[in-house]
Amino acid sequence: MSVATPIERIWPAPATGALTDPQLTALYGRADRPHLRVNFVASADGAVTLDGYSAGLSGEPDKRVFGLLRMLCDALVVAAGTLRHEGYRAVRPRPERRAWRREQGLAEFPTLVVVSGSLDLDPAQAAFADAPVRPVVLTHTGAVPPPGLTDVADLVRCGTDRVDLAAGLAELRRRGLDQLLCEGGPHLFGALTAADLVDELCLTVAPLLAGAGPGRITAGDAGPPRHLPLRHVLAAADGVLMLRYARDPADPPSAGSTPAA
Ligand SMILES: NC(=O)c1ccc[n+]([C@@H]2O[C@H](COP(=O)([O-])OP(=O)(O)OC[C@H]3O[C@@H](n4cnc5c(N)ncnc54)[C@H](OP(=O)(O)O)[C@@H]3O)[C@@H](O)[C@H]2O)c1
Repeated sequence: MSVATPIERIWPAPATGALTDPQLTALYGRADRPHLRVNFVASADGAVTLDGYSAGLSGEPDKRVFGLLRMLCDALVVAAGTLRHEGYRAVRPRPERRAWRREQGLAEFPTLVVVSGSLDLDPAQAAFADAPVRPVVLTHTGAVPPPGLTDVADLVRCGTDRVDLAAGLAELRRRGLDQLLCEGGPHLFGALTAADLVDELCLTVAPLLAGAGPGRITAGDAGPPRHLPLRHVLAAADGVLMLRYARDPADPPSAGSTPAA
């Protein structure tokens, strides 16, 4: 693939020059322990959407890293709100990225995990109907699935009247899905932060002012701040910054509990 916009690491020094895909892959990597990475794009003034969607904030460098992060994960976790609103399709990395996964001994395709309390999900949506591996839906014991959903997805029930995210992540890990990439949205990120489950945030900052109106990358009930050290800063030639923040491995997040049967 030809790369239109070079990406360089500018912090920590020394600067790297234009990074290749293998170098970017090594910079992000897979953790040596269960790990939840969250990925968002925002404007310089903190907006999570432009005209209601993330697409207006994202350009070629962000899409390149976005695809590499998908390549690196065992499962891609997304909240039902974002799945519905952004019209998620099936998760199918490009052939060369699937080949990389096979070489690493990973499943050819990451598993899609949808977090939904209402189960207001459309089994005909391509994310389910066209999925190369059966998606998992994290929900709670009180939720009633719409017709056809259990034909196309496994339901995992964690919590009695709301999704217990710690229990849900513990169940994913029990299924061998250790390296989790969460693509939002803001309410799910807020809940994961409140539950102290986030190991890493990858944040692309687009060089534009969206102005007042859109929300932040996080939403929901307030909780205590969580310290997250900066690990690298990448800069693309078009002025986009890519920030990676991650916990100290010696300070892991709270352990998950056991899901309801
Ligand atoms: N800039 C970016 O990188 C980016 C990334 C993602 C999304 N977005 C934008 O964010 C917007 C959508 O975000 P949103 O905050 O409204 O929704 P969201 O976080 O994507 O989804 C919220 C939904 O998640 C489900 N959920 C279940 N259990 C939950 C729990 N314990 N905590 C939190 N959520 C739980 C619920 O689904 P049910 O209703 O099914 O119960 C809830 O309504 C869209 O405009 C999208 O374009 C931007």
